[in-house]
Amino acid sequence: MRKKIVAGNWKMNLDISEGIELATTINSHFLTSPLEGKEVILCTPFIHLNAVSAIVKTAGVSVGAQNCSNHKSGAYTGEISASMIHSTGAKNVIIGHSERRIYYAENDSMLAEKTAEALRNNLRVIFCCGEVLPERESNAHFDVVKRQLENGLFMLPEDDFRKCVIAYEPVWAIGTGKTASPAQAQEMHHFIRGLVEKHYGTKVAADTTILYGGSCKASNAAELFANPDVDGGLIGGASLLKDEFCNIVKAL
Ligand code: PGA
Repeated sequence: MRKKIVAGNWKMNLDISEGIELATTINSHFLTSPLEGKEVILCTPFIHLNAVSAIVKTAGVSVGAQNCSNHKSGAYTGEISASMIHSTGAKNVIIGHSERRIYYAENDSMLAEKTAEALRNNLRVIFCCGEVLPERESNAHFDVVKRQLENGLFMLPEDDFRKCVIAYEPVWAIGTGKTASPAQAQEMHHFIRGLVEKHYGTKVAADTTILYGGSCKASNAAELFANPDVDGGLIGGASLLKDEFCNIVKAL
């Protein structure tokens, strides 16, 4: 049985006291409203990881980073390694978010290295894929997502692949208020599950969690999550608002 997950991606928002406050209220919320098998992940800025990991003690809630270095250690000024992330108590890391691909020129081979480095350090990888608008308009979206997954993720042996979650995030829907329709999300998620099946077989495909991301909020979460191949969400803007985020989790 695959896991149902809602992951919040705080991006570059909230100072340390605001982050602690948000994590504290979310943690208390799920203490009183248990997750019953669902999972919640809070992906915070690096500097919040240690403090937030110490706060988040509720069953089913864990912490993640938004990126990691492709290197193990050494002279890489300003970088954060997967082992450092793991040492904070964080259990997850987002790899290949479109903002990293686009603004920081992270390419498929670098992302494959980051994924391998994260797994070597016992972090669960939330691997992002998704097309930009011109790619969808020219009907290249399936090819783009296939290439991203084949080059960044499908080189993994099955045991490692099983430690990964896929997030489909159409770039044209991120932070734009424009959400993929439930039918568009289902179509792509079904396609992705088919690719996983081709590489790893039916059982692994059935067990793979595939999240949708891109302007998902409390008002549209239920219709997106109702699709058979949508197993939860990767939430940006709405993850900064406690009630909104908790209502998205409730919709799962
Ligand atoms: P958004 O971001 O929910 O603000 O669109 C999603 C993401 O980038 O993970």
